Amino acid sequence: MQKKGVYGSQGRAPSRPPCEGLCRGCRAEGCVRREPAERCFRIRGGRPLSGKVKVHGAKNSVLPVLAASVLCGGPVHLARVPRLSDTGVSLRILESLGCVTALSEDEAVVDPSSLTGSRIPDRLVREMRSSSVFLGSVAARTGEAYLCLPGGCELGARPIDLHLMGLRALGMTVEEKGEKLHAFHHGLHGADITLPFPSVGATENILMAAVLAKGRTVLRGAAREPEIADLCRFLRRCGAEIVGEGGPVLYIDGVKALSGCSFAVMGDRIEAATLFCAAAVTGGELEAEGFSPSDLAAVLGVLKKMGAELKIYRDRVRLKAPPRLCSPGRVDTAPFPGFPTDVQPVLSAAAALAEGRTVITENIFDSRFKHLSQLREMGADVRCTGRTATIDGVERLYGRTLRALDLRGGAALVTAALAAEGESHIYGLAHIERGYERLEETLSQLGAEIGRV
Ligand code: EPZ
Repeated sequence: MQKKGVYGSQGRAPSRPPCEGLCRGCRAEGCVRREPAERCFRIRGGRPLSGKVKVHGAKNSVLPVLAASVLCGGPVHLARVPRLSDTGVSLRILESLGCVTALSEDEAVVDPSSLTGSRIPDRLVREMRSSSVFLGSVAARTGEAYLCLPGGCELGARPIDLHLMGLRALGMTVEEKGEKLHAFHHGLHGADITLPFPSVGATENILMAAVLAKGRTVLRGAAREPEIADLCRFLRRCGAEIVGEGGPVLYIDGVKALSGCSFAVMGDRIEAATLFCAAAVTGGELEAEGFSPSDLAAVLGVLKKMGAELKIYRDRVRLKAPPRLCSPGRVDTAPFPGFPTDVQPVLSAAAALAEGRTVITENIFDSRFKHLSQLREMGADVRCTGRTATIDGVERLYGRTLRALDLRGGAALVTAALAAEGESHIYGLAHIERGYERLEETLSQLGAEIGRV
């Protein structure tokens, strides 16, 4: 008797696989087998999200700040460190380089004084593609850095050509052999660099290498995201000389060495936006604090257009949803201060139930609509051609068994499930845990019926 395999005794994929979600077990197109031990979110939709929440520290700030700690001559004490899998990977990279690290609650300490290594472990780069942000700081501090190319991810190709262009302009030699990168130098010097696209990662890498370079660096076309400003604040706290953050040109005057410092990471504006979209689409009332509303102006403007009532304070926003959202019309993602690409997936989930047609164009990543097919399975009326998604709002969505395929796409499925009729099971929690700390706890405190099973 042939051993019963993934597909049973026939030993081949059945014409219609046996269960109801996407599968990680066999990866066959449409196959729906679940890993026996895999856990999921079980969500019963239809309950409005209401209450108050303080957002965690920002993932997209703490990751570059942890990479920048390599440049410091003394211990770095960080507060508001979010407990995310990506934070864990970053701390493991620091330890692999010889740093001493400690993490308790939302505080982390990094002592880079014992740093000796310059090789960032391949397995950690594969776990977290944004490990490329260690390239500039490790090479600047030790004179060289070895990194395997992070390669593409669920969002599409993730080249780092702009990172390398900038580092080379500062005097670094970067040898590329297949997937392997070796960056080294015999002294970095300031340069006048222009980025053709305001890449967040490239801005961070160039910034971190320039702070210890000899002379002045002018970085034109720099990314203006608030997380870049937070990184500049951290580096200045350690003694760096940087001017211009938040604008398109950064001026960096290199210094001989950086000290350690104590620093609190900024609040996560993308977590705030995610919770606002969830409260808006479930007819709730949410006050989120601990972030800067001006960092979310584009998102708040769209939510207002959709009919949400907003009260905006210095470090918090109160949102009151209408009985039913209306479409915001066209939304194009763009570099800051435009509409952030990281909020596009959860916005599409809210738009699925909004009255009218929403047309979303994703201008930053070339493959960030993977969640739409599963929204369609829930009953959404959505079509996608190239970088544009057209969403005609429907009256209701239906709970389904779903699988997160990337971080923010997973958040979109959760958002849709919270507003859907019936029960949803969402697998692929590892994606969601990369960017949201204890999301199910936050949501259940706000009245959602959600559990990890
Ligand atoms: C950062 O990614 C964020 N990640 C992303 O958040 C965010 O979506 C993105 O910035 C845009 O805001 C972190 O901060 C850890 P980019 P990053 O360099 O640095 C192209 C999330 O969900 N590009 O601005 O990788 C690239 O292919 C994550 O929290 C080049 O062509 O973003 C992409 O299409 C997802 N060459 C675009 O630019 C380069 O050398 C934006 O990339 C670099 C980038």
